[in-house]
Amino acid sequence: MTTFLKATEIPIRGARTLPGSWYTSPAVYERELERIFVERWLCACRAAEIANPGDFVVRCVGPESVIVTRDESGSVRAFYNVCRHRGSRICEEARGHFEEGIQCPYHAWTYALDGRLIGAPHMRGLEGFDPADYPLHAVAVAEWEGFVFINLSRAPEPFAQAFAPLIGRFARFGMPELVLAERITYDVRANWKLVHENYSECYHCSPVHPALVRLTPSNSGENDLYEGPFLGGYMVIAKPGGSLTMSGRPCGLPVGELPADDRQRVYYYSIFPNMLLSLHPDYVMVHTLWPDGPGRTHITCDWLFHPGTLSDPAYDPHDGVAFWDMTNRQDWHVCELSQLGVASRAYTPGPYAPRESLAAAFDAQVKAALGEGA
Ligand code: FES
Ligand SMILES: [Fe+2]
Repeated sequence: MTTFLKATEIPIRGARTLPGSWYTSPAVYERELERIFVERWLCACRAAEIANPGDFVVRCVGPESVIVTRDESGSVRAFYNVCRHRGSRICEEARGHFEEGIQCPYHAWTYALDGRLIGAPHMRGLEGFDPADYPLHAVAVAEWEGFVFINLSRAPEPFAQAFAPLIGRFARFGMPELVLAERITYDVRANWKLVHENYSECYHCSPVHPALVRLTPSNSGENDLYEGPFLGGYMVIAKPGGSLTMSGRPCGLPVGELPADDRQRVYYYSIFPNMLLSLHPDYVMVHTLWPDGPGRTHITCDWLFHPGTLSDPAYDPHDGVAFWDMTNRQDWHVCELSQLGVASRAYTPGPYAPRESLAAAFDAQVKAALGEGA
């Protein structure tokens, strides 16, 4: 039985914002990479981006680079982008297709799509050298709702266990079938946590997003996940049959099989640590966050639609894309202002408002993940 609570009904117990060093210190950032971005499951891409054997995308997790590909048997695979010979980074492109296996540009060692070393020029006969000893270092992968997740841990928590609260939860949105209509990437000069904290509350919506609050009142929401790694709930679309678009009208065919209530709602979930999932009646928006130092986050934003929408002249996906691109930029701007402010010697943690209870819950999750206690 799901219990929905208004943000103001979730206790914040006097929570204050995090100390400035948590947003600026290289030492804290390193600790976050080790304890969070290496240990947790990260949303890497859509499975459809690597539809065929040899298709690949490369994702950067702090200083690490990971190749995500599909092998000849059709299984998704991921590897550290590190050659087993002298360690060269292998793949320089962000995405593409491996025609003849995965070949290192340095001395042309070549790996099969399942990571086995299958070519090492002039190494035959070298005493003690067995190619079987030098596969690419594997990274764990999992698939959920049409997304590929990666985990860099040496001993990853099983995905089904880590994501148990979410498995099956969004089945009615039919996400595996949705197709990518548009992707925009952003380079935000703010710590990744500021992006989550911003996403987790609508206290800022009236001053920052005047167009958004006309479509969805900022206090209309209720939350069904309010502690732990997954946080969020829904907000109400004010106009019957409307959506979050520039025009206020739907910009796509309804996704999945949604009951009447859901056709009037947008669900927002912060999925620790790198995914923000925003489920609209007519499209799904997905942000993935890629920290690049304490003060910078690369963000990929995808808009997914019912496959019929793209060929239906009645709909214009860009109506929704443009709305959120505008709203995203408003958010990134205040995140960047926050980064500048929390870096000041004058900054001290401030009190969270009752409407920011999920931002406080996110901070508690970060502290727990870092072993700092909640
Ligand atoms: S470093 Fe890759 S083949 Fe030599
Ligand atoms: Fe916002």
